[in-house]
Amino acid sequence: MSEKKPFRPPMDHEEFRRIGKETVDYIADYLETVQTRPVYPGVQPGYLRRLIPGEAPQDPEAWEDVFADVERVIMPGVTHWHSPDFHAYFAPGNSYPSQLGDMLCNALGCVGFSWAASPACTELESVVLDWLGKMLHLPEHLLAGTAGAGGGVIQGTASEAILVAMLSARTKVIRREQQASPESCDHDVMKKLVAYTSDQAHSCVDKAAMIAAVKLRKLPTDSDFSLRGSTLSAAIEEDKANGLIPFFCCATLGTTPSCAFDKLLEIGPVCSKEGMWLHIDAAYAGSAFICPEYRPLLDGVEFADSFNLNPHKWLRVNFDCSTMWVRNRADVVDAFNVDPLYLRHDNQGLVTDYRHWQIPLGRRFRSLKLWFVLRMFGVKGLQQYIRKHVSLAKEFESLVLSDDRFEVSAKVVMGLVCFRLKGSNSLSERLLQKINETRKIFMVPAKLRDTYVIRFAICAATTESSDIVHAWNVIREQADGVLTGIQNGV
Ligand SMILES: Cc1ncc(COP(=O)(O)O)c(C=O)c1O
Repeated sequence: MSEKKPFRPPMDHEEFRRIGKETVDYIADYLETVQTRPVYPGVQPGYLRRLIPGEAPQDPEAWEDVFADVERVIMPGVTHWHSPDFHAYFAPGNSYPSQLGDMLCNALGCVGFSWAASPACTELESVVLDWLGKMLHLPEHLLAGTAGAGGGVIQGTASEAILVAMLSARTKVIRREQQASPESCDHDVMKKLVAYTSDQAHSCVDKAAMIAAVKLRKLPTDSDFSLRGSTLSAAIEEDKANGLIPFFCCATLGTTPSCAFDKLLEIGPVCSKEGMWLHIDAAYAGSAFICPEYRPLLDGVEFADSFNLNPHKWLRVNFDCSTMWVRNRADVVDAFNVDPLYLRHDNQGLVTDYRHWQIPLGRRFRSLKLWFVLRMFGVKGLQQYIRKHVSLAKEFESLVLSDDRFEVSAKVVMGLVCFRLKGSNSLSERLLQKINETRKIFMVPAKLRDTYVIRFAICAATTESSDIVHAWNVIREQADGVLTGIQNGV
């Protein structure tokens, strides 16, 4: 019989101290030199399965062997989101104070679903969301530390914030309709519910409507890709005439395809008049409202029942951190309140229990990283960062405008420029394919109605003017090739 060895944990405190410091060095080296790596990986689907065994090891492995596989197995398949050559999607948040906040969150490892589960977790979140709310000049009724009924919460993603808003609105309207017609069941009301958003809204609004099992109308936008109040009004009238119940509208500030802004000051009064829930999704652009010059774009937020932005996009906080404020926390709690004995505590009802504000039960101590970031950058440091990104986008826009083979496809308001080669969609499609094949820069496309555009987003915290010039040179060089190829019939 083989002798049983006592189990020894893979790392003791001393080893963690040493290896942890080495790992921090590796992370700092990685971020300092990230631009030396091709921004987009050159691997094919399934590459990783061939590089590691199909089963977990029976016996413990040494850290040195595990860590060596980061460069051998992982890095070849990593898209480097924090490289100044990354211009896809929207800016991903990152900073060292935020990373340290996440490390501490992991170490504490508390799962703060209720106040009692870890009081600091709940209380810091509520205070820091008030801080950020005040930085954004949100109306008092959305803040927790006031006489109002509202408050803030950190969701994992904007998708979750929008789903929570839609489900809360659904519960609220079902209760209202059942009061008016006590004989109607949930299903009778639900089948008549209709939600609205624009044809430029993020696909997570579609997903929320799928999960909530309600109809969603995607409304057409104006020439600036903004949803107008009159369009919403007309759709509501049509639907009411057909016996439907309009109950929810999701307006977007900073749409994903082109960073357009819905007209809140027109949409808000329509929602108020109809007794509809207004949610504002400002996942990317919302961070910019900490700068007074961009705050007017948020005018009309006073009509909102809920509002979200993602500090994990444009506020130097690492994924995940989507901040959400609600006008009436009771509307959310009513929709999500389940109360088994094992989760109850003595202060129940007197304090915030965030488990009632979200889909999962468990939640991380995400406010730590937001708190560290707000304190270590200060409002001024974060404003400077936003302004720098916008000015880099303007710089890129001027380069595009200086070359008459190209056109800019939408107003440049924040850190995103949508552009294309003049002519057919297929020209720009070919151009983007060629650019991304170089792996020198990385961008993604969007469709603005029927027009194919290339999105150039300022993403990395370390992007400089020289990176914009570098990107433009790559784009021009590839455009030369595409246009010459076309001329030569290739
Ligand atoms: C306007 C907008 N809303 C929602 C989302 C979805 O964000 P999340 O990944 O946090 O769900 C995005 C993502 O880019 C977005 O741009």
